[in-house]
Amino acid sequence: MSYSANTSRYDSMTYNRSGRSGLLLPAISLGLWHNFGGIDTFENGRTMLKRAFDLGITHFDLANNYGPPPGSAEEMFGKMLKGDLAAYRDELIISTKAGYYMWPGPYGEWGSKKNLIASLDQSLKRMQVDYVDIFYHHRPDPNTPLEETMAALHQIVQQGKALYVGISNYKPEEAKEASRILKRLGTPCVIHQPSYSMMNRWIEDGLQDVLEEEGIGSIAFSPLFKGILTDRYLNGIAPDSRAASSSVFLKESDINEERISKVRQLNTLAAERGQKMSQMALAWVLRGGRVTSALIGASKVSQIEDAVDALKVPTFTQEELDLIDGILNS
Ligand SMILES: NC(=O)c1ccc[n+]([C@@H]2O[C@H](COP(=O)([O-])OP(=O)(O)OC[C@H]3O[C@@H](n4cnc5c(N)ncnc54)[C@H](OP(=O)(O)O)[C@@H]3O)[C@@H](O)[C@H]2O)c1
Repeated sequence: MSYSANTSRYDSMTYNRSGRSGLLLPAISLGLWHNFGGIDTFENGRTMLKRAFDLGITHFDLANNYGPPPGSAEEMFGKMLKGDLAAYRDELIISTKAGYYMWPGPYGEWGSKKNLIASLDQSLKRMQVDYVDIFYHHRPDPNTPLEETMAALHQIVQQGKALYVGISNYKPEEAKEASRILKRLGTPCVIHQPSYSMMNRWIEDGLQDVLEEEGIGSIAFSPLFKGILTDRYLNGIAPDSRAASSSVFLKESDINEERISKVRQLNTLAAERGQKMSQMALAWVLRGGRVTSALIGASKVSQIEDAVDALKVPTFTQEELDLIDGILNS
């Protein structure tokens, strides 16, 4: 049966402005880094995507290399889009990125104009779309002049292949310089995609100030610290969890007692607030309005529902924030 979106999908989601741009993003966005690749179950991904959209999640984040194998998440997403969500294209914000290794030879990664333009053309084909809403440079390239990388982003917008551009994993000074170049070119940087969570607070050390000054929004990736800031690992490593899947990005050794004892204490505090651990972690990332959107991953529909429900609980008291800091710094 063909999919028809929930008519009340916009009733409860919060949409935040990305910096000083016209772009509004849902407070919770869904990333397709894991669980949407060629090795994963198509139907599970499809069900998650539809449920997310039904809950007001309008933004789906991809990259050329998501899978595995690399490229397969974009292919899967393209099929899901065509099958279910094509009629809603104008209600969706689709992003992709280039910068990490994608194909052999000197042009298959980093930040040359050659890499960015070719990679986006490949991504558009895999996703079967004419344009993406946001195109990111995925990581800084120490060897290509920033002017060239930013000129490639500008050219992509001029060509109508992306509506907005962003940067990811750029440090404060790099982000400032990239933003200044893009402004001069007339294509402002609307968003930065950094990692950020209770257990990874590097953006508080300068980057958030730069983004505020430059009028750039931020979408925090891995806000659950890849699943550690949930109840997933409180009683060992579940066989269906990311840590058990021998991912290079989350190893069993990352689930150590020092971290889990903190998560246990945070989990108790979350319960006192009437939240699950994962929900408190998302609410914390979004506290104070400095982060435009929390970019989650999910392996099941219930995790997406949990994330959206995180927005229902009132903001933190100063006492709660101090307690959280105390646990994290203990
Ligand atoms: N720009 C970059 O360089 C970069 C890098 C990494 C990620 N990203 C983006 O950020 C997105 C999110 O990254 P991420 O997947 O690491 O984010 P995350 O939200 O920190 O972790 C997601 C994982 O947490 C677990 N989880 C989620 N909700 C849960 C719940 N309610 N209860 C228990 N466990 C729960 C699931 O793990 P299980 O699979 O174990 O169930 C899920 O796969 C990616 O898809 C990608 O779009 C960008």
